[in-house]
Amino acid sequence: MNEAEKDNTHFELNEVWKIYKNGDKIVHALSRINCSFTRGSFNIIHGPSGCGKSTMIRIIGLLETPTMGKVLINGENTSNLSQKKRNSIMRNKIGLVFKGSNLIPIINAVDNLTLPMLHSDNNKAKELLKKVGFTDYNKFPNEMSVEEEQRVCIARAMVNNHSIILLDEPTGDLHTIESDNIIELLLELNQTQGLTMILTTNNRRLPQSVNNTVEMIDGTILKK
Ligand SMILES: Nc1ncnc2c1ncn2[C@@H]1O[C@H](COP(=O)(O)OP(=O)(O)OP(=O)(O)O)[C@@H](O)[C@H]1O
Ligand SMILES: [Mg+2]
Repeated sequence: MNEAEKDNTHFELNEVWKIYKNGDKIVHALSRINCSFTRGSFNIIHGPSGCGKSTMIRIIGLLETPTMGKVLINGENTSNLSQKKRNSIMRNKIGLVFKGSNLIPIINAVDNLTLPMLHSDNNKAKELLKKVGFTDYNKFPNEMSVEEEQRVCIARAMVNNHSIILLDEPTGDLHTIESDNIIELLLELNQTQGLTMILTTNNRRLPQSVNNTVEMIDGTILKK
């Protein structure tokens, strides 16, 4: 990696291992992962079930710590940070969308966005919902289609002006056309808002205009 690339690196995984113990069984969910994600890039982590995609997303999002290795954000090694500092990075920098990241059913779309805001702001919530193509502001989650619900979850991931959005299987519960619509929306947000996007999928139909595809198998990255 040259100096310019280093400056532009948003997230970096350096010799990362994640080993789980399942009773007597030891699972190498991630084995010696080295990869980086450039600022403002659109990235896909692709591979079959069990290859370690969700583990990788949780480690990038600081929800889990690696068994060995380093996670660097903006060049800063996060391994030795206090929990308080990690929480602050998670709150201020990283937006998360998980498979089935459920909205709160008893409040409408706008309130689902204002709730996690540091400073509750209805106009900002509406602005974000508009950005993701959802303008039925007063709709409740049980009145939304699965695609609409996913759009609102994506808007919710943007409420605290995060610079990166991590999405674990954002199209997992969607049919082909809905799935294409969500990918199109994510590409548009990546381009217009400059957000770094990292998403996982095991779908074989990958969009063309992706900056970086990480192909995984059995906890490792396949070399291109
Ligand atoms: N908390 C955990 N405890 C024990 N083993 C785990 C844990 N999380 C993941 N694993 C194991 O690590 C491996 C990788 O799992 P992971 O969920 O990251 O894969 P994945 O690629 O996201 O799969 P899928 O496409 O089914 O979501 C699997 O063998 C899984 O059983
Ligand atoms: Mg997964």
